[in-house]
Amino acid sequence: MERTFVMIKPNGVERTLIGEIIKRIERKGLEINALKIILASKEQAKKHYDIHQNKPFFEDLVKYICSGPVVVMVVSGNNSVEIMRLLAGATDPTKSQPGTIRGDFSSDVRLNLIHTADAIERAKYEISIYFNENEIIDYKRSIDKHTFTK
Ligand code: RTP
Ligand code: MG
Repeated sequence: MERTFVMIKPNGVERTLIGEIIKRIERKGLEINALKIILASKEQAKKHYDIHQNKPFFEDLVKYICSGPVVVMVVSGNNSVEIMRLLAGATDPTKSQPGTIRGDFSSDVRLNLIHTADAIERAKYEISIYFNENEIIDYKRSIDKHTFTK
C-alpha cells in the first residue's frame, strides 16, 4: 500500500481543525497508520523542507512549523500521495478549490493548514524524519477483508 506523510500545521491545531482534517482523510477511505502530536524541532523542520532551503520564505517557514504543536501522520491507500494532495488543495489558498481543506478553511499561503508529501520518495524521507518504523501500524480494515478476495 502506498504511504504518504501528512502534517497538520500549527494553525490547523490552533484553529481546532484536527478532527475536521482527519474526518476528511478517513471519509475518503485512506488509512491512518501512525499519528502523534509533537513540537517539531528546528532540525526536523529544516530537513522536512530542505528542498526549499534557498527560497526567500525558508527561514519563516521553519520558524512557523516550530511555533506550536503539529500533528504528524502516516497515511496509506492506493495513490495516497496524489489523493492527499487533492484533499489538501492548491498551495495558495486564494487559488484552492472550495471542497479542499485549504480551499475551505484558509486564505493565506503562509497559514495553509496542512502539509502533504508530493512524491512517494519524499513521503518515505519525511516519514523517517518524524517516525520510527515500529510506530507505524499497517492493517487492513475488516470491511475490505470481507469484501474482496485479493
Ligand atoms: P507543503 O509542502 O507545505 O505541503 O506545501 P506545497 O507542497 O503545497 O507547497 P510548497 O511549494 O512545497 O511550499 C511549502 C510551503 O511553503 C510556504 N510558502 N510560503 N510565498 C510564500 O510566502 C510562500 N510560498 C510557499 C507554504 O506554507 C507552503 O505550504
Ligand atoms: Mg511541498
